[in-house]
Amino acid sequence: MIGSTFEYFRSLPGTNDYLRNLETVSPGHVVVTDLQTAGRGRGGHRWEARAGENLLFSFCITVATADSTLSLLPVLISLSVCEAVDPSGMLSVRTKWPNDVVCREKKLCGILIESGVRGSLARVVVGIGLNVNQREFLPEIEGSATSLALLTGVPVDREILLGKVIDELNRVLFHVKRAEAVRRYMARCTTIGRLVSFDYEGNRRIGDAIGIDELGRLLIREAEGVRVYSGSEVTHLRSHR
Ligand code: BTN
Repeated sequence: MIGSTFEYFRSLPGTNDYLRNLETVSPGHVVVTDLQTAGRGRGGHRWEARAGENLLFSFCITVATADSTLSLLPVLISLSVCEAVDPSGMLSVRTKWPNDVVCREKKLCGILIESGVRGSLARVVVGIGLNVNQREFLPEIEGSATSLALLTGVPVDREILLGKVIDELNRVLFHVKRAEAVRRYMARCTTIGRLVSFDYEGNRRIGDAIGIDELGRLLIREAEGVRVYSGSEVTHLRSHR
């Protein structure tokens, strides 16, 4: 169960790195901090977040490599965050495939999933950076980032929110049927129904994102047929909804 054990630090280089460097760690262990001095995002980017204003945490889980859950993790984790912060859907918090959480095209939450395989088991560290009360962002991301406080106009209690996100992670990962989670993810996914560009075998290609499969891979319709895409990133070009 996620959150069965818990550590809090006022400051850390990064919560993912902290967990990755532990010799032994019990599954479900959560580490949370108010400030990261070397927070990491996907693709080698830095993750910058003002001290004490956001949710910055990581947890560890063990998954059998043969289990489809491993490839579905981006879907399951981003769906959990969406449902925790916007249970009714009133804020229109959406997923951007594979695992960004966005609202009105701006990023609300980034998720960094890193796994190391030992035999038939993968030890997975999941890091979540959720913009909560930060209202001003660095100039380079100002136009593309948002926070819950900006969306709702009111400050949000980070401790209560952390509890809600962890509850939702436990529910989606351990109690919701995979097919139902995929269906709910698709209903929230802003990538589906878009023209997207993506890298495939060194070439930039373009197609219509039409769905995701049971392993969380994006289905993209091209002139030659439907491609099952398991890369890590697509660019949204336009909506045709
Ligand atoms: C992304 O690039 O979208 C992923 C960002 C992930 C940031 C979180 S913050 C907590 C955890 N610790 C890190 O160093 N990164 C993740």
